[in-house]
Amino acid sequence: MGRGMEGVRRWLVVAAVLGMGSKSTGLTCLEHPQNVTINVINANIILKWDWDNPCGLNVTFSVQYHRHSAIWAALPQCQNIIVTECDLSSAIQDYLVSYNVTIRVNTLKNHSPYAFLEFTPYLEAQVGPPGVWFEPIYGGVKINILHPEGDQQKMWMLDTLKYQLTIWKNATHSKEKTRSIFPGEIIYDLEPETTYCLKVKAHMDDHFSIYSPMHCIQTSKVWIGLPRLENLRIHSLNMKHLLYWDNLYNGNVSFIVQLLPGYKAHHSLDISKDWKNVSECENIQTTFCDLSSFIGSNGIYYLRVQAVHSDNKSPWSKILEFKPIEQNKMGPPNVSVNASEDSINVFIASPGESENRPMSDTYELTYNVWYSTSSITKELRRKPSQFIISDLISSTLYCLKVQAFSEVYNISSAFSNETCIKTAKGESSHFIPLIISGAVLCIISFIVAIYYAWRNINYAFFPKCKPPMVIDIESTGENDLKRLYFPVAKEQTDKCMVINSSIALPCKVNLDDVRVDKELEQISQDSGNYFIDNIISGDNESHQSSELITV
Ligand SMILES: *[C@@H]1O[C@H](CO)[C@@H](O)[C@H](O)[C@H]1NC(C)=O
Ligand SMILES: *[C@@H]1O[C@H](CO)[C@@H](O)[C@H](O)[C@H]1NC(C)=O
Ligand SMILES: *[C@@H]1O[C@H](CO)[C@@H](O)[C@H](O)[C@H]1NC(C)=O
Ligand SMILES: *[C@@H]1O[C@H](CO)[C@@H](O)[C@H](O)[C@H]1NC(C)=O
Ligand SMILES: *[C@@H]1O[C@H](CO)[C@@H](O)[C@H](O)[C@H]1NC(C)=O
Ligand SMILES: *[C@@H]1O[C@H](CO)[C@@H](O)[C@H](O)[C@H]1NC(C)=O
Ligand SMILES: *[C@@H]1O[C@H](CO)[C@@H](O)[C@H](O)[C@H]1NC(C)=O
Ligand SMILES: *[C@@H]1O[C@H](CO)[C@@H](O)[C@H](O)[C@H]1NC(C)=O
Ligand SMILES: *[C@@H]1O[C@H](CO)[C@@H](O)[C@H](O)[C@H]1NC(C)=O
Ligand SMILES: *[C@@H]1O[C@H](CO)[C@@H](O)[C@H](O)[C@H]1NC(C)=O
Repeated sequence: MGRGMEGVRRWLVVAAVLGMGSKSTGLTCLEHPQNVTINVINANIILKWDWDNPCGLNVTFSVQYHRHSAIWAALPQCQNIIVTECDLSSAIQDYLVSYNVTIRVNTLKNHSPYAFLEFTPYLEAQVGPPGVWFEPIYGGVKINILHPEGDQQKMWMLDTLKYQLTIWKNATHSKEKTRSIFPGEIIYDLEPETTYCLKVKAHMDDHFSIYSPMHCIQTSKVWIGLPRLENLRIHSLNMKHLLYWDNLYNGNVSFIVQLLPGYKAHHSLDISKDWKNVSECENIQTTFCDLSSFIGSNGIYYLRVQAVHSDNKSPWSKILEFKPIEQNKMGPPNVSVNASEDSINVFIASPGESENRPMSDTYELTYNVWYSTSSITKELRRKPSQFIISDLISSTLYCLKVQAFSEVYNISSAFSNETCIKTAKGESSHFIPLIISGAVLCIISFIVAIYYAWRNINYAFFPKCKPPMVIDIESTGENDLKRLYFPVAKEQTDKCMVINSSIALPCKVNLDDVRVDKELEQISQDSGNYFIDNIISGDNESHQSSELITV
C-alpha cells in the first residue's frame, strides 16, 4: 500500500456510466467527477474530488455510500453541495469493512454519470500527530504525549501506539536523532543551556504517521546534584536476574530500583506515574539487585535506578529494557548415563533443574550431544532429554557432552561437564580370540603347505638318496619282486618309502627327508586338501608333520 506524502491516499477515477448521461448539455459539459480520493487521518474520513466545469455551469454535487453488500444511502450533509469534498466521518463507524461511495454532478435538470471509489477505512488510515508538551524536571526534560485521538479513541482503539521522538540541536538540524519514547518519559541526556527542537509521532506498522508540530526548548543549567547512574545492565542466568550498575559515588549512597512491566508502559498515558519501587531493592547499598522474584519469564520489563545521598538525589538512570526470555542465558544441563555393551542410555536434566528453576519449563528444549571415543567424535542434534545411543562398540570408553538448545529463541546453553562411560564387555568378544587363533592356524597351515610343496619338488627332481625298497614277501609275487628290483625310474620316487627305521640305509639319509617322503606318499594317495584335513584331524602322522615344521 503506497502512502502519499500529502495525505492523499488514493488517486483513482472510475467512471460508472449508468446510462443517465445528460442529453441537453452533452457529455463534455457534464462529465463525472475526477481524481476521487479518500483521506483518512485517525477516524476523520474526508472524500475529495476534482471537477473542472468546462462549460461554466452552475452545479452541485451529491454523495451516496454503501457498506459492503448493503443498500445505498445518501449522506444528508453531502447532498447538493458546492464544495468538492465531503466529511464521511459521522456516517462511517465500521472501520474494518469496505465501503463504496459515489459522487455525481447535478445541474437543475440533469446529472452526470457517477464516479465511485471503494475503500476500507482502517487500511487507508494514517496516524495523526500526537499532542506533545514538555516539562523541565530535575536534570532533564519530561516529554508528555497525548494520544493522537485524545480520550476518544476510535480508529486506534484496539492498537498499541508506539511513539518516536526526533530531536536535534536547533543549530544542527542535520544531526537529528530518532528514538522510541513513552508518554511521560524523562530524557536526561541533553546538554545544559542548549536549545533543542523536537517532534514526536506515533508509530504503527503499515500506517503512515504524521509528526507533531516541532517544538523548541531551552535546557536548564548544569545539573549540580548527584550525577546520573551509568551502565545499567542485567545478567540473567537460568532466569535468575541480577541488575548491576556502576557506583560513581563516594560515601554513604543508597540506591532505589524501580520496575515497570511492559504491558503497563505500552498502555500508559504517563509512565512517570506507573513506576514501582522494587521492594527488596529500595535504599540498598549494593550496586546490584536480585530481581528474580519480581520478573517473570515472559514479557518486557523496564528498569531504572536512582542514587540517594541524604537529601540529595541523582536523576533517574536511562531506562533499561529487559526481555527475560530472549536475554536469559542457560547454564549447563546435567547428564547422567548408563551403558550396555552396545548402547548408552542418556538422561539429561535441563539447565537450572538443580536450582529448582528448570529451563524446560520456560523453553521448549532439545539437546545437542557430542560423544567420542579416543578416535572419533560424533554429533547428535535435537535429541529429547532421554534417549539411547546405539550401535556402539563394547568395552569402549565413550565421553559425552551436551548442550541444551531452544530453537524458537535460538539460545544455546552452556556445555555440560564431560561424562565418560565404558560400554560393557559384549558376548561377541568371546569370539574374537577364537577368530584370531583360527586365522593363525590357517596361516600356519598355509606355510606348511608351501613348505611341503617345495620339499616335494626339490626331492622329485633332485633326490638326495634312494632308500631301499621294503618288500613284503608274503604279499608280493615274483613278478612283483622283479619289478621291485628293476623299477622304472619314474616309479622309483613314488615307491621309495621307509616303514621301519631298523632297516639299514644304503646312504646317509636325512631323517627329515625320510619322514617327508612318508608324507608325500600320503599326499599322492589323498590328492587334495589333505594338509588342512590332517592338521585338523590331529592323527599321529600329521601331528608329527606339524612338529616337523615348528622345529
Ligand atoms: C486530476 O489530477 C491531475 C494530476 O494531479 C490533474 O492534472 C488534473 O487536472 C486533475 N483533474 C481535474 C479534473 O482537476
Ligand atoms: C446557482 O444555483 C444556486 C441554487 O442552486 C443559486 O442560488 C445561485 O444563485 C446560482 N448561481 C449562478 C451563478 O447561477
Ligand atoms: C461500487 O459502486 C459502483 C457504482 O454503483 C459499482 O459499479 C461498483 O461495482 C460498486 N462496487 C462494489 C464493490 O460494490
Ligand atoms: C533556532 O535557530 C535559528 C537560527 O539558527 C534562530 O533564528 C531561532 O530563533 C532558533 N530557535 C530557537 C527556539 O532558539
Ligand atoms: C548510611 O545510610 C543509611 C541510611 O541510608 C544509614 O542507616 C547508615 O547508618 C549510614 N551509614 C553511614 C556509615 O553513614
Ligand atoms: C520508592 O522508595 C523511595 C525511598 O524509600 C520513596 O521515597 C518513594 O516514595 C517510593 N516510591 C514509590 C512509588 O513507592
Ligand atoms: C561440572 O564439574 C564441576 C567440577 O567438577 C562441578 O563443580 C559442577 O557441579 C559440574 N556441573 C554439573 C552440571 O554437573
Ligand atoms: C539404565 O537406567 C535405566 C533407568 O534408570 C534402567 O531402566 C536400565 O535398566 C539401566 N540400564 C543399565 C544397563 O543399567
Ligand atoms: C547431576 O546429576 C547427578 C545424578 O543424576 C547428581 O548427583 C548431581 O548432583 C547433579 N549435578 C548437578 C550440578 O545438578
Ligand atoms: C542463531 O544464533 C547464532 C549465533 O548465536 C547465529 O549464528 C545464527 O545465525 C542464529 N540463527 C538464526 C536462525 O537466527
